[in-house]
Amino acid sequence: MPTQWNPDGWRQRTALQMPEYADQAVLDGVLDKLGSFPPLVFAGEVNALRRKLAQVSEGDGFLLQGGDCAESFAEFHPNNIRDTFRVLMQMAVVLTFGGAVPVVKVGRMAGQFAKPRSSPTETIDGVELPIYRGDIVNGIDFDDASRQPDPNRLLTAYSQAAATLNLLRAFAQGGYADLYKIHRWNLDFVDGTDTGTRYGELCGRITEALEFMEACGINGDSVPEMRQTDFYTSHEALLLNYEEAMTREDTITRMGGWYDTSAHMVWIGDRTRQADGAHIEYCRGIHNPLGLKAGPSMEADDLIRLIDTLNPENEAGRLTLIARMGDVEVMEKLPPLVRRVKAEGRKVVWSCDPMHGNTIKASSGYKTRPFDRILAEVKGFFAVHQGEGTHAGGVHVEMTGQDVTECLGGAQLIDEEELASRYHTHCDPRLNASQSLELSFLIAEMLKQQRPARQAPEMVEAAQ
Ligand code: PEP
Ligand code: CO
Repeated sequence: MPTQWNPDGWRQRTALQMPEYADQAVLDGVLDKLGSFPPLVFAGEVNALRRKLAQVSEGDGFLLQGGDCAESFAEFHPNNIRDTFRVLMQMAVVLTFGGAVPVVKVGRMAGQFAKPRSSPTETIDGVELPIYRGDIVNGIDFDDASRQPDPNRLLTAYSQAAATLNLLRAFAQGGYADLYKIHRWNLDFVDGTDTGTRYGELCGRITEALEFMEACGINGDSVPEMRQTDFYTSHEALLLNYEEAMTREDTITRMGGWYDTSAHMVWIGDRTRQADGAHIEYCRGIHNPLGLKAGPSMEADDLIRLIDTLNPENEAGRLTLIARMGDVEVMEKLPPLVRRVKAEGRKVVWSCDPMHGNTIKASSGYKTRPFDRILAEVKGFFAVHQGEGTHAGGVHVEMTGQDVTECLGGAQLIDEEELASRYHTHCDPRLNASQSLELSFLIAEMLKQQRPARQAPEMVEAAQ
């Protein structure tokens, strides 16, 4: 870790995408209060995630990262948290069983509030107001009062994140994630669909395998992992005031160092990854595993410079590169980056965000994403790694357990007219449960194809 670093050092740099608060004194008071609140995560958990990601970077495992584009105060409800959690668990089961790899589960949950935007203001019918930047900053309603950044929202975000994380921990460790109950994770509205049926069949096979293991004397009592799981949280480290206030020095594991205790993992967005910018400066000093988004404008030289800054000791599990090129550009833009990172021996997890490069505006005005393009980018991502002899290590998706109609296509064949029927997102369009499952079946297939490269050389030979 760099010697000269402080949680507030980012303040000396240019910080893009940050709101301007009208009353500095109110903001300072809130930040002081936040700084005295308990951490949401602990250094030991963060280190455990880093070790798991290190395994993924070595080709053994797959990172599943998913959740809302933007969590909202209005949709804060235990059923929503439960349903997103269970779709993630279903996806993880499909990937683990179908792809035969350990899956590291990370939610875009319990803190994913702040949003980067392409413009600082929004104009409707000649009225110009500050843009909505996520519920942690301002309100989504198009009126002057809602759109003013309000520091007190930081406290609401903290308490929502704490309550969400508490429930996620209970689900993960308290019996909900029990492999013996996987049939029950299927959501009613997915049950009758082709994807739901496919999931049901997979559960049947897993249940048979569990019965076989039980007969051999292996069960949930002897292997606790069958009844519980590790689930981690993540969000974009965008609102640096908040992240700074949550940054604490580790005194418990005695390993020392600074941790951003607002989530296990944080990532740097494609709009705030300037090498000399505030977000890179802040993130380089915390011990959390970091994600770095890489869009089509990322050049190989810039990427290496960023890796130098963010992971100077080339520690495995520290850095996940999240490519979000779009289906059209992935085959052209990704290979030079993958090749260079490999040539320089940089240890990273390569993950694919097939959402943010594939956003379009439907004729009705809704922001949407065609499911086919999402699939095409994931396929392209796997093909690039196949070609370069590297490990396609993860996927990063915006999804929800709710029965929304925000992305076009999928087995339910959502068309442009249907977008309006259940379009609830506070920011970008999300995959619904059925589309998420469909995507994970496809990824499981590709993971299976990637598998021979993960076996010992003599086994590959024997298989040929
Ligand atoms: C996001 O993940 O919600 C996001 C804004 O992504 P990106 O920084 O890749 O555009
Ligand atoms: Co988004």
